[in-house]
Amino acid sequence: MLLNCAFSVCHVLMLVLCLSAAEDFDWTKNEHGSFYYGTFPTGFSWGVGSSAYQTEGAWDKDGKGLSIWDVFTHKKGKIYQNDTGDASCESYYKIKDDVSLMKELKLNHYRFSISWPRLIPTGVRSDHVNEKGIQYYDQLIDHLLENNITPIVTLYHWDLPQVLQEKYGGWQNVSIVNHFNDFANLCFERYGDRVKYWITFNNPWSVAVEGYETGEHAPGMKLRGTGAYRSAHHIIKAHAKVWHTYDTQWRGKQKGTVGISLSGDWGEPVDISNQKDIEAAERFVQFNLGWFATPIFHGDYPQVMKDFIGRKSAQQGLGTSRLPTFAPQEKSYIKGTCDFLGIGHFTTRYITQKNYPSGRSGNSYFTDRDLAELVDPRWPDPGSEWLYSVPWGFRRMLNFIKTQYGNPVIYVTENGVSEKTQCTELCDEWRIQYFKDYVNEMLKAIKDGVNVKGYTAWSLLDKFEWDEGYSERFGLYYVDFGNKNKPRYPKASVQFYKRIISSNGFPNQREVENWRRKSIETCSSSSQLLAADPLTSHMEMVTEIVVPTVCTLSILLSAILLMFLLRRRN
Ligand code: NOJ
Repeated sequence: MLLNCAFSVCHVLMLVLCLSAAEDFDWTKNEHGSFYYGTFPTGFSWGVGSSAYQTEGAWDKDGKGLSIWDVFTHKKGKIYQNDTGDASCESYYKIKDDVSLMKELKLNHYRFSISWPRLIPTGVRSDHVNEKGIQYYDQLIDHLLENNITPIVTLYHWDLPQVLQEKYGGWQNVSIVNHFNDFANLCFERYGDRVKYWITFNNPWSVAVEGYETGEHAPGMKLRGTGAYRSAHHIIKAHAKVWHTYDTQWRGKQKGTVGISLSGDWGEPVDISNQKDIEAAERFVQFNLGWFATPIFHGDYPQVMKDFIGRKSAQQGLGTSRLPTFAPQEKSYIKGTCDFLGIGHFTTRYITQKNYPSGRSGNSYFTDRDLAELVDPRWPDPGSEWLYSVPWGFRRMLNFIKTQYGNPVIYVTENGVSEKTQCTELCDEWRIQYFKDYVNEMLKAIKDGVNVKGYTAWSLLDKFEWDEGYSERFGLYYVDFGNKNKPRYPKASVQFYKRIISSNGFPNQREVENWRRKSIETCSSSSQLLAADPLTSHMEMVTEIVVPTVCTLSILLSAILLMFLLRRRN
């Protein structure tokens, strides 16, 4: 009897567990609350990321050419407080320091980008290759490998050589495809023996829209309605060409892989029972991720982009669509040029249908989409204005990729959260919460069958945040930009991320709660360290200004005294 009873209790319990697990993995339901304890597949790769212009500094050192960001940031009024990346974190001089921070985290990979003008100052390979620039990345790669950290290398994280912008109009001109291919070829030639993961472009959406449509980013072009589509078209062609170059010339001996890193904000219909909102949300994603992913996986732009931009162009009285077209042979050349898909995901929007009537002027990438973006005021937004923490959107985005593009291999190439500059707080509880929830949604997505192989926390250090200058800090490590040595201090999230890595996931509630508590405990002592920092800066001032001044004065005084004594003797 007792045995029977125990058996049925167990049975009911099992059923409840199964049901809740099943519900947990039905990603189409908005099950926002539940946390899943479990681990990632063996071999899952954990990393952190950075990019050249945002961290390196040394903008004019050792033969580096100018990039569009060097020029853009030096114009007044473009960047918050007219900040520049001239010095940034000085990572150019701190390979060993930065790799030791990565070792501390026990990372599997480091994602960084190569500055094109550091290697080829004018952007044109036949002009000149800068060996000192080559050496810098040689040292970085070697040092990573010596420490068992796999380099994941981005070829283009926005810092186009200025000469290519001035001479040809940058990504507006198709001639750039060959120049980019030459640069990529140089990188394969020099680093491909050691680098096995290549990312052609980082977030081309930003390059196209913010660089050539709104002009908020370098090179600051405001070509509304055409600039973004045109540059994206050339970026896609350049990506495909580089993939083919690797495939035909290098893959055989180097055995590496080439992918692209796309930005993927999720769009959720405001009203899930309203067909118009559902379609608008789908459009939001297609105009963003789909714009690049659909040609790369299926050979052409998303149908919805062709329809909307084509219709609006016709209403404007234009003979052809503002969205360029691919010739049939280009479509088959572009299709399938991706060994893995990189995803940079930060946030989510609610989407509703909104009509923008098209006139002769006033059309833009944004109005072409016929939608409005909304946010839930209850979503946490600890830092950047645009960045709301909505973890469940991440799982939806990953599942969308799985179904739309045939379940490709995915590396999450960016995911993280900022805080405002005034905040010198190393106890970044909200970042711990963000990582915990987002990484957990990624784990659920893997259980859904999404093929995610690695995760890159964004970013290793606080750094130059484009048009926001240094006002938004994404780092796991705090950087004191006011101090010439740019010291790095661990935020509490370092400890937390480290534990996720060493456990390869989330073992159980008790332990994960413990991690959080311990991480916060350790950070109060690092906060004290940071609080003491003004003293270090003051000490520097003493050595830099006071000491030389005192020395000069003493020499002068001794000289006067000597002259006085000599005169008296005469
Ligand atoms: C995406 C960009 O690739 C990266 O450079 C930037 O720091 C993050 N967004 C955060 O804004």
